[in-house]
Amino acid sequence: MQIIDGKAVSAQIKQEIAAEVGEMVAKGQKRPHLAAILVGHDGGSETYVANKVKSCAECGFKSTLIRFEDDITEDTLLEEVRKLNANDDIDGFIVQLPLPKHINEQHVIEAIDYRKDVDGFHPINVGRMNIGLKCFVSATPNGILELLKRYNIETRGKKCVVLGRSNIVGKPMASLLMQKAYPGDCTVTVCHSHTENIREECRQADIIIAAMGVPGFVTADMVKEGAVIIDVGTTRVPDPTRKTGFRLCGDVKFDEVADKCSFITPVPGGVGPMTICSLMRNTLLAGKKVIYG
Ligand code: GUN
Repeated sequence: MQIIDGKAVSAQIKQEIAAEVGEMVAKGQKRPHLAAILVGHDGGSETYVANKVKSCAECGFKSTLIRFEDDITEDTLLEEVRKLNANDDIDGFIVQLPLPKHINEQHVIEAIDYRKDVDGFHPINVGRMNIGLKCFVSATPNGILELLKRYNIETRGKKCVVLGRSNIVGKPMASLLMQKAYPGDCTVTVCHSHTENIREECRQADIIIAAMGVPGFVTADMVKEGAVIIDVGTTRVPDPTRKTGFRLCGDVKFDEVADKCSFITPVPGGVGPMTICSLMRNTLLAGKKVIYG
């Protein structure tokens, strides 16, 4: 069994990006600039956004963090999105999700100029991704593809089970893995809370992508010998022995599944760091204007 070291791969990719940015700046080109909007004080979102800002510095990007309290109106937030759309210095931006309940996330996502939508959440990017056109691909699935590639994991003709059908992980992951490409060419099954015989589906899988947000859902008896296991879960579970008071828990029971599989991503240190590094890659592409000109 081999552990897929997302932390190491992500550090390497960030170095590659930083080298490219160094060359761009040396040629007199503009430093890529990412903006992030953070609404409220959700602990997870605070950490993710802080890591995104830190990663921008590591890659040599400029970054701008725009914060609002969670009583901001949808109209004010939409106004800020329009300002960022019109600001030529900003190459790409994200609105960290989830947003407070009184704000319609879809309205906000659709207000973002798709050419600056480095999260790849706008329907134009989602649609283009689905038919294999150049676009901003959402970060978590793109990070997983990068891990499969860097570890030379065979995907062609493999049976892949995606657990979870979210718009930002499950659905795009399934779509990308079935595309005529490497990584891809898989036979994909998407399972969710209403799937019957989910354990049997998993037992037939060569590759399992676990993205349901149910800690420890995937157990050893659900895994075929030699399968590839990608764990997207990052649930915060209370842990009084930690300074933070919690630990991150994946969707896979790592200790019992590890012995049975060929490759596995740990939590933390697997998919998580790759998600941020995919956002950095999209920001570089936005800065170079290579996708939409
Ligand atoms: N919340 C959880 N994951 C993400 C992400 O990739 N982008 C944004 N904007 N919000 C998130």
